[in-house]
Amino acid sequence: MEQERGSWGTNFGFLMAAVGSAVGLGNIWGFPYKMGNNGGFAFLIVYLLLVVFVGAVVMLGELAIGRKTGLGAVGAYGQFSKKHRWVGGIGVAAAFFLLTFYNVLGGLVMRYMMGFLLQLMGVDGFNGQEMSFWNYILHDYGSMVFFHIVFVVSNIIIVMGGIEAGIEKFTTVAMPALFFMLLFVIIYVATQPGAIEGYKFMLTPNLEPLSSVEGFFSVVKTAAGQMFFSLSLGMGAMITYGSYLNKGEDLQKNSWIIPACDTLVAVMAACAVLPGCAAFGLDYASGPSLLFNTMQNVFLSMGTFGNLFGFLFYFLVFIAAVTSSISLFEVIVTWKLDQARERGKKGNRTVIICVAAAVSFAIGLPVALDAIGGWFTQKPGIVPAPYQLLGMEFGAEGVPMFIDAWLDFFDVLSEGILMPLGALIMTVLIGWVYKTNFVREECEISGHKYRLPKVYEACFKFITPIGVTIVLIGQIMDFFL
Ligand code: PFF
Repeated sequence: MEQERGSWGTNFGFLMAAVGSAVGLGNIWGFPYKMGNNGGFAFLIVYLLLVVFVGAVVMLGELAIGRKTGLGAVGAYGQFSKKHRWVGGIGVAAAFFLLTFYNVLGGLVMRYMMGFLLQLMGVDGFNGQEMSFWNYILHDYGSMVFFHIVFVVSNIIIVMGGIEAGIEKFTTVAMPALFFMLLFVIIYVATQPGAIEGYKFMLTPNLEPLSSVEGFFSVVKTAAGQMFFSLSLGMGAMITYGSYLNKGEDLQKNSWIIPACDTLVAVMAACAVLPGCAAFGLDYASGPSLLFNTMQNVFLSMGTFGNLFGFLFYFLVFIAAVTSSISLFEVIVTWKLDQARERGKKGNRTVIICVAAAVSFAIGLPVALDAIGGWFTQKPGIVPAPYQLLGMEFGAEGVPMFIDAWLDFFDVLSEGILMPLGALIMTVLIGWVYKTNFVREECEISGHKYRLPKVYEACFKFITPIGVTIVLIGQIMDFFL
């Protein structure tokens, strides 16, 4: 049975896949701009503390649940108790809603990548719109849908290959490549006049944002939300990847390596983007348009060399995005494959990934067609955004943020509610219901020592649930109040 299900070829392969899942748009896009918006250095410190005391603990919990049961999210909880299957279902639903907009953003990244490639070949890659391409592309619906499809198909091709021959093979090459490309971008940015201001912003000890209760809470909840998203927690992705890990591997060490690599790449991305903004006089806090509008203009203003650079940069972002989205698809695929096996059938990976991709594409279509609610361009798209469906006026005061655009709406569902909820229930289950002993046993089964048992006990029982509760309350307040 075990063999039939497949497994990672090597621990390095598993690590590259897991780090690939963790390193994504959240690192390259979310981390720098959230750091920019939340006081730079203060944010970094809080983030690091959260990674150690909450992120790495939840990571171990998810990997242990997955490896112990050898099943994806739904089946894994089901093995602890039939009544707990729905907890895994929360993860599957979260992964699904996240995919609806992650795929659209991945498609946009591919469009920018192709734009620079064409420029490199001497062809106008941005339809004569160069500097205002962001405003243009959001209303170029044909391209939005086309690149959405191309991104989804890239996922199908990789996931279809299976765990070892598809996901592992791809990420083992892609992740080291991403690391070196990012290094290259950092070095280039560092040579630009004015970049120094960006480092100062990042590294000057300024704890002022944390000095008021309100400020402290705001930084903590933003950093915690970002941390969960960035480490791919609460969506069943690490349970799923853990379920394909051989019993001989050191689970606890892996649960440290993944957050360490993810955090390193997030800080590296900030080292590229924030000094880049400083050098080109751009706003650190320009939000979602930072990755597209801002960075594109940086490359365009560099002349011919900028085309090569722009291509490299967006290629790097594409790799980061696709190695994350395949893990989300794998949550769904493994769930369905396990289900088939439970019924004594084999299950067809290709059919499952194609159906999952088609459904997530269809539900993601409004994301691609509402021009992100028209917020950046003052011009709504061709399908009504949620606020329009509710009869609200464009740009009206008091329209809650989460109905601005379909992207925000699905983001609230997945990242805002389902993800922290799933993680909260998981830590409470591990700390109080299943008890941490099973984590210990799962770690020791490989012959490795279970380190820091008391710290983990305290984290699973108290620190982590409290941390996750703060995220959940923070997200709900942000989106609904
Ligand atoms: N960690 C990814 C990022 O930082 O972009 C996003 C993500 C992937 C979240 C997979 C959750 C997940 F299960």
